[in-house]
Amino acid sequence: MVTSRYRAAFRMDSQSQNLVSTFQSLFLAGQHLNFFPWMELEEQWKKSLDHLLLLDILKRTVRHPLCTKYPPSVKYMRIFLLELIKKHESTATEPLDELYEALGKVLNMEESTQWHKSYFLPSGESITLLESLAIISMGTTGLVTWKAALYLSEWAMEVSDLFNNRTVLELGSGIGLTGLVICKTAHPKKYIFSDCHEEVLQQLTRNIKLNGFHVDNRSNPQSIENLTMPEGDLPDERSSEIIIKEFDWEKVTEEQLSELKIDIAIAADVVYDPKIIPSLISVLKRLNCKENEKSLDVYLASTIRNIETYNVFLTELEKVGLEWEVVPDHKRSFFFYDEQSNVEIIKVHT
Ligand SMILES: C[S@@+](CC[C@H](N)C(=O)[O-])C[C@H]1O[C@@H](n2cnc3c(N)ncnc32)[C@H](O)[C@@H]1O
Repeated sequence: MVTSRYRAAFRMDSQSQNLVSTFQSLFLAGQHLNFFPWMELEEQWKKSLDHLLLLDILKRTVRHPLCTKYPPSVKYMRIFLLELIKKHESTATEPLDELYEALGKVLNMEESTQWHKSYFLPSGESITLLESLAIISMGTTGLVTWKAALYLSEWAMEVSDLFNNRTVLELGSGIGLTGLVICKTAHPKKYIFSDCHEEVLQQLTRNIKLNGFHVDNRSNPQSIENLTMPEGDLPDERSSEIIIKEFDWEKVTEEQLSELKIDIAIAADVVYDPKIIPSLISVLKRLNCKENEKSLDVYLASTIRNIETYNVFLTELEKVGLEWEVVPDHKRSFFFYDEQSNVEIIKVHT
C-alpha cells in the first residue's frame, strides 16, 4: 500500500497532470488503447518512479465514479489494466497491489454486448452513452457513435450560437451524441432527434434519459418521445424541447417536415452506402418544399471512406439543384479521434 509519506513527497508537475487528464478522457470515451500516450507514461514513470502517478491514473480511469456507474467493456478494462501493470513492472521490483486488486475485480465481471462511453464537455459536465460493442448489430450501423458525430459535435460547440433559439432537426441521429452535445452546450428552442431504426430509437431514448432529460409524452403524442430539460437543472431561458421522431427518409412527407418548422438540419455519417444516397437526397430536397416557408441550411458531416461514393452524393445534390460548400475545418481540440480520418462538413443550401 502507498503510505502518506509517498503522498506528501509526490507533487505532480503539469506534464504529469496533463498526462493523467489525457488518460482519463481517452479511457472514459472508450478510445482505442493504441491512441493512449503509453510512451509518455513510461518516460514519466521512469523519471519519477513514483507509484502515485500510476495510482492517479487508476483513480481517474477504472476507479473513476463514472466508470463505476457506467462501465466500459470488461475486455477493455482488462487490457488497459494489464498494460498499466506492464508499464509498472518494466521498472519496479515490487508489484503494485492496487493495480492487481482492480484487475481482480474486473476479471470477476461479466462481459455484455454493450458498453458505456463518457465525454466531458468544456463546462465539466459529462455525457454518457450506452452503445453496442459491435460496429454493426441488429442490422444497423446506428448503435455506435461514429467519428463524424464526434467531429460534428466539436464543430457545433464552436458555433453554438447557430443553434440558439432555433428548431434543429437531426437526421439519422443514431444513439444521440451530437444532439446531446448541442442540447448541453447551446440553447436550441427545439431539438428533434430522428432515425428510422426501431432499436436505434429505443437506445437513443435511453441515452437521452441517462443524460438527465425526462419524458413528457403529452405535449406531442405523434412523436415517439417528447422530452424536456429537467426543471431546476438549468435556468428557464435554456430549456429546450427535445423530440424523438421515427423518420424514414423514404417515407417522410413534405407535410410532416413542414409541420416541424425547422430552422436548421444536421446529420453525421449518413453518406456511407450508395444504396441510401437517393433517399437521403430526396429528404434534403423535401426539406426545401413549398410549404416550408423559409429556406434552411443543412450541415452534413461525413467520414470520406470511399471518395467515389462521396462524389456520387455531391453530384446528385447538384443534379437536384442543391448547392453546397465545404465548411472550414474547426479547431480539433476537444474530443479524441483518429486525426488521420478524412472527415468533412458540408453546408447544403436548400
Ligand atoms: C452510420 S450511422 C450514424 C449514426 C450517428 N449519426 C453517428 O454518426 O454516430 C447512420 C444512421 O442513419 C440511419 N439511417 C439510415 N438510413 C436511414 C433512413 N432511410 N431514414 C432514416 N435514418 C436512416 C441509421 O439508422 C443510422 O442510425
